[in-house]
Amino acid sequence: MPTEFISLTFPNASTEINPIPNAAIDPEYLVRYARSLDDYGFNYTLVPYDSSSFDPFTVGATIAAVTKNLKIIIALRPNTLYPTVAAKALATLDQLSSGRAVVHFIAGGSDVEQAREGDYLAKDQRYARLEEYIRILRRAWDSADPFDWDGQYYQFKQFSNKVRPVNGTIPVSVGGSSDEAYRIGGSLADIFGLWGEPLKETKQQIDRIYAEAAKAGRAENDRPRIWVTFRPIIAETDELAWAKAHRTLDTLNQARANGQSRVPANAPPPQNVGSRRLLEIAARGEVQDRALWYPTVTATNARGASTALVGSPQTINDSILDYVDLGAELISIRGYDNLNDAIDYGRYVLPSVRKVLQERETSGKAL
Ligand SMILES: Cc1cc2nc3c(=O)[nH]c(=O)nc-3n(C[C@H](O)[C@H](O)[C@H](O)COP(=O)(O)O)c2cc1C
Repeated sequence: MPTEFISLTFPNASTEINPIPNAAIDPEYLVRYARSLDDYGFNYTLVPYDSSSFDPFTVGATIAAVTKNLKIIIALRPNTLYPTVAAKALATLDQLSSGRAVVHFIAGGSDVEQAREGDYLAKDQRYARLEEYIRILRRAWDSADPFDWDGQYYQFKQFSNKVRPVNGTIPVSVGGSSDEAYRIGGSLADIFGLWGEPLKETKQQIDRIYAEAAKAGRAENDRPRIWVTFRPIIAETDELAWAKAHRTLDTLNQARANGQSRVPANAPPPQNVGSRRLLEIAARGEVQDRALWYPTVTATNARGASTALVGSPQTINDSILDYVDLGAELISIRGYDNLNDAIDYGRYVLPSVRKVLQERETSGKAL
């Protein structure tokens, strides 16, 4: 499978470094952003989920309507949608987009956030529910006949689905860094999403996911594809990129101090393991490996993907290739100046990383 690139969907011009308080969806911006990703060769965009934010399905359908190749990854928390409804909604998007729908499952990393939409299950139960949910979706996409379900979390009778995915099924992604995430994702997912950690720790996580896949009886060619996420801060030279990185950090710190950040200044430590891991590594030092930078993690209390890669296009590309060599097939990159960064990556990162990989493939074949 080739290396593929992912971005994140932004519905308006508000960014972490230039927040527009209470910004509504800006359809023109959304279309421009989505078309830029498509034109510059990104393979996927993740439409994220948050209890207070926009609906990923309608935003995803809008993106599908204005793009040609971009695959749309819908972030989905099982507590927000009955599984038969989700199976049809995803298959509907898949048909509307000629087979470009993907789903990324979020078991839910914070009890407080889950309670905002009426979910009071403990985290291990949320993961158990996720496992059942994925099995129902696969059955609904696959089954020509009506079927009953009598599970721990869901029971229904004679569900019949007439909305089938274009290619028979829809890729299922799972994200997280807890034992349960490794187990459910390793045993059931097509894709496993991680946040950018140093090479050593990333390798450890990949090994855990593969071990769970093996335990579930999956063959080596059937393991989840690995997705790793970074926030590259790129400029013409390494020196200029580091200056830009420090400006970005100052702005993030300022926004948090002024109460303009999504994370309050006095936010408690995060509950999800992925964020806790990022904060632990941040405490060890600012830079890991070639150019993995952690102060942006501390500045945002590790809310979401927050590790930066800092440097010239060459440094960023070499860093990304380090992760490709480790086994990552999906590279998610988004910056802090969303649209401009996506265009920079489209010009200076995607083509050159692909060129190196192409050259390697050609010389490998020649040997
Ligand atoms: C690549 C990736 C994307 C994610 N997207 C979202 C998202 O859109 N919304 C959300 O609430 N959590 C998102 N998460 C967070 C985790 O899925 C979530 O915290 C998880 O349910 C529990 O994490 P844990 O197993 O590390 O404790 C994402 C995680 C990863 C790795």
